[in-house]
Amino acid sequence: MNLKVQVRKKNLYIDGQWQEATEHASLTSPYSGDVIAYIPKANEKEVNEAIDAACRAKTVMAKMPAHERAAILERLVDLYEKRLDEAAEIIALEAAKPIATAIEEVKRTIQTYKFAAEEAKRIHGETIPLDAAPGGEKRVAYTVREPIGVIGAITPFNFPMNLVAHKVGPAIAAGNTVVLKPASQTPLSSFFLAELLQEAGLPNGALNVITGSGRVVGDKIVTDDRIAAITFTGSPAVGIGIRNKAGLKRVTLELGSNAAVIIDKGIDIDSIINRCVKGAFSFQGQVCISLQRIYIHESLYETFVQKFVEATQQLKIGDPLDPCTDVSALISKEDVERTLDWIHEAKQHGAEVATGGIAKGNILLPTVLLNAESSLKVSCQEMFAPIVIINKVQAVEGAIEQVNDSRYGLQAGIYTDNVHTALTAAENLHVGGIMINDIPTFRVDNMPYGGVKESGVGREGIKYAVEEMTELKLVVFNRN
Ligand code: SIN
Repeated sequence: MNLKVQVRKKNLYIDGQWQEATEHASLTSPYSGDVIAYIPKANEKEVNEAIDAACRAKTVMAKMPAHERAAILERLVDLYEKRLDEAAEIIALEAAKPIATAIEEVKRTIQTYKFAAEEAKRIHGETIPLDAAPGGEKRVAYTVREPIGVIGAITPFNFPMNLVAHKVGPAIAAGNTVVLKPASQTPLSSFFLAELLQEAGLPNGALNVITGSGRVVGDKIVTDDRIAAITFTGSPAVGIGIRNKAGLKRVTLELGSNAAVIIDKGIDIDSIINRCVKGAFSFQGQVCISLQRIYIHESLYETFVQKFVEATQQLKIGDPLDPCTDVSALISKEDVERTLDWIHEAKQHGAEVATGGIAKGNILLPTVLLNAESSLKVSCQEMFAPIVIINKVQAVEGAIEQVNDSRYGLQAGIYTDNVHTALTAAENLHVGGIMINDIPTFRVDNMPYGGVKESGVGREGIKYAVEEMTELKLVVFNRN
């Protein structure tokens, strides 16, 4: 395959300039182990310069009219559309995301920035009827939403373009500036974005891309008082650490989950098998709402398991750049070892491996586990790997209890033909979003997205992220 992406030494993006860093580290492909780029390792001084630049650009962005902010985002959309293949190839290379799935991600990224461009034009407050209380008569009150200032965005490896878009898009739409620290394994997507936003006419300093260690770059972003809000997607452990260190900053955390679907009696299995397989194994299960737990009515269990395993075995394993590949390498060797350990623990406690359970290099074969107890790591921890457990249940009520028996609560799904059962599930599942007659993995980029419990705080989905990234100001006119 003729790659458009060349191995290159990358620079930091600060104040609209590509700035050479003092130190670099090699970036390797999770699939082949080949070096694909040399990435800057910013020191504290360089992070400081990025924050300075973001502070200087604050006034320019805050005073920029909404139509101009929207126009920058629209031009960004055009550039992504023109360079879609290259963008997908970058994701496939740095994340080992199968190219067909990477193309889906770029298309979603385009949607996300379109939503951001639209949202820029409808950020508004409301009027407040102050005469609702004695003493409030003859006053006119309204609110406005003002940009919060500098946003510190810390993003994960699993959607290196679209989850960055969910932070940078609303930040620009609302008139903020950004210091972005992308995941160490997937910085190329963020450098690509910086290049496109430069071309789209974003003022210098409004976006700064700083790569390096969590200890140096991440800690500085989280603790620097000039940063007004942190938006983070990643693990609960890191998210909780950020919350503890962030002081009075606004903090939005999109953390993990062990997402589940319930399948009620009477469901036509054939119509949902492929959807469930995709939900479990897309991007090797490295998705916060990946389908990790399936609770299926006992009357359907045997047939479902047989068909699910057959469909899983059809998945094509291999090179992420091959358009036919469904499942490729996990993001790191450590993750392969961790997941093999968890499978081993499950087997020792009586779980049956219906298919998979082994690794070939960094590729963990898509794995289906049966009879896994709820206390096992494969069940109660976030797996972030192509592993799914299937459990038999006698009734939906019991399944709801099992879904809720989790530290996490991001999204859940239920397939049922019974509207009462659907509404009972919607009422009783303790999660941020419930998908009726779909898998928990469903997401369209304008919907509110976020979780309860250790799945996080706050919501993304452009309109909701804009709320997190703006300050509400009240104005009261006294006509007395
Ligand atoms: C995530 O992994 O949190 C994002 C999932 C998605 O956007 O589909």
